[in-house]
Amino acid sequence: MTSSHYKVDAELYVTNQLTHEDIPSLIKYLNNQIIHVNTLNIPYPYTTKDGENFIEKVKSASVDSTCFFTIRLNANNELIGACGLYRSVKNKTIATIGYWLGEPYWHRGLMPKVVKKIIEIIRIEWKNLVRIEAHIFSWNKASMRVVEKCDFEFEGILRKLVHKDGEDIDVHSYALII
Ligand SMILES: CC(C)(COP(=O)(O)OP(=O)(O)OC[C@H]1O[C@@H](n2cnc3c(N)ncnc32)[C@H](O)[C@@H]1OP(=O)(O)O)[C@@H](O)C(=O)NCCC(=O)NCCS
Repeated sequence: MTSSHYKVDAELYVTNQLTHEDIPSLIKYLNNQIIHVNTLNIPYPYTTKDGENFIEKVKSASVDSTCFFTIRLNANNELIGACGLYRSVKNKTIATIGYWLGEPYWHRGLMPKVVKKIIEIIRIEWKNLVRIEAHIFSWNKASMRVVEKCDFEFEGILRKLVHKDGEDIDVHSYALII
């Protein structure tokens, strides 16, 4: 895979690079119960094996169905978060976005900048994309603010859409027409 490097601001860049050298950072930031609670598939506690499995999953995904970026510090290339877009091979006009950032970097307006940059990239990479959806658990106001800052519109509540950790969760559905 050709490696990419897109500057977000003076502090951050995004890239499609993800290697086994990133496992210590994945553990450092993803071993966080708040991130587990707010996302669909991130385990807690987060182990080396989880990092290895995730890297294999990203490597084996088709470039047509997955556009995955790690978020890194310009200063030392450390991975501090990730953002991915996923679409079905049957309907290439719709993608779903997901993201997380390490807790020390929250509340500084960084993720909206990253999401805006990735939308710029995806417009070029996936030319037939029309709609980007974000499915956000009902309590996750911070994530709702991220997509609102990126001009997504709230389209409604998908009641009890997700079953996770023994709970049926209402999901707030947002979308951006690009
Ligand atoms: C959701 C997440 C990516 C937000 O990223 P971020 O870079 O911190 O986003 P922002 O700095 O723009 O802040 C978003 C909102 O968080 C809240 N927030 C900001 N500062 C805050 C503070 N000091 N205390 C509490 N909440 C605060 C505000 O609602 C803010 O919106 P506002 O700027 O309109 O006030 C990050 O919290 C995260 O990774 N969470 C865990 C994983 C997750 O939820 N992923 C999304 C799944 S759908």
